Amino acid sequence: MAQLIDGKVLSAQIRAEVKEAVSKRIDSGKRPPYLAVVLIGEDPASASYVHGKAKASAEVGIRSDTMTYDADISEQEVLKIVERLNRDDSVDGILVQLPLPSHIDDRKIINAISPAKDVDCFHPESVGNLVIGLDGFQPATPAGIIEMITRSGIETSGQHCVIIGRSNIVGKPLANLMLKKGIDATVTVCHSRTKNLPEIARQADILVAAIGWPNFVTGDMVKEGAIVIDVGINRVDDASRERGYRLVGDVDFGAAFEKASYITPVPGGVGPMTIAVLLQNTLMAATS
Ligand code: GUN
Repeated sequence: MAQLIDGKVLSAQIRAEVKEAVSKRIDSGKRPPYLAVVLIGEDPASASYVHGKAKASAEVGIRSDTMTYDADISEQEVLKIVERLNRDDSVDGILVQLPLPSHIDDRKIINAISPAKDVDCFHPESVGNLVIGLDGFQPATPAGIIEMITRSGIETSGQHCVIIGRSNIVGKPLANLMLKKGIDATVTVCHSRTKNLPEIARQADILVAAIGWPNFVTGDMVKEGAIVIDVGINRVDDASRERGYRLVGDVDFGAAFEKASYITPVPGGVGPMTIAVLLQNTLMAATS
């Protein structure tokens, strides 16, 4: 039977650390860190994420503004907004909430953000620094996973970490963080075309599911004593719930719980860690 890794508890620790550092910064006469958030369109999930980021920022003393724009804003206009925020010395971090409406090229917008203010760590320069192991911003979800593992006292050195999913926001950056000196895992990245995926998953000391497929990881893919990190947040219909759905991860939790030594729940696992890392990054942006 596994021990739960509680993302709510661990993210609260990080938020308290950021709050303390912000308060020291203000006591020394400096202004609070300032995060500018750009939200385009009416996507309810994006609005809810952005609301969570603004609330968490306020709770630790980080100033944040959410700038909202209609979905029909032009790409050119968004580029101008980003350039204005780049030039504004009072702005420490810039976050353009994704996905953007289909007539706007996400990549063009991300590439326009100053790397010094890139608290999402999505800019190619930030990603390059991450790959070569330089200090700097770290992407929220992968860094949140590393925080969960290390703060739980789990040994990573020489452990085989199998990551299922090769996205630019989770799988690829997490592979790089797992390889970083000091973490020192041996990494395998699997994806939808991987042959013998269950066999590879069974070799994992640390198994990370980030494929966006409810219950993709079944009990037979989990080695006895493995650490299981579930990044999935999938909505499945559930008529017994008032809102008509419930959230499940990429892992068959019940089956994996019986075999793993540690496991993250969904919700309340990796999710809360991501905002905590964004706060760390915003503080770092103000400090550097
Ligand atoms: N959309 C979903 N997650 C994220 C995130 O971490 N950053 C941004 N900018 N957009 C997102």
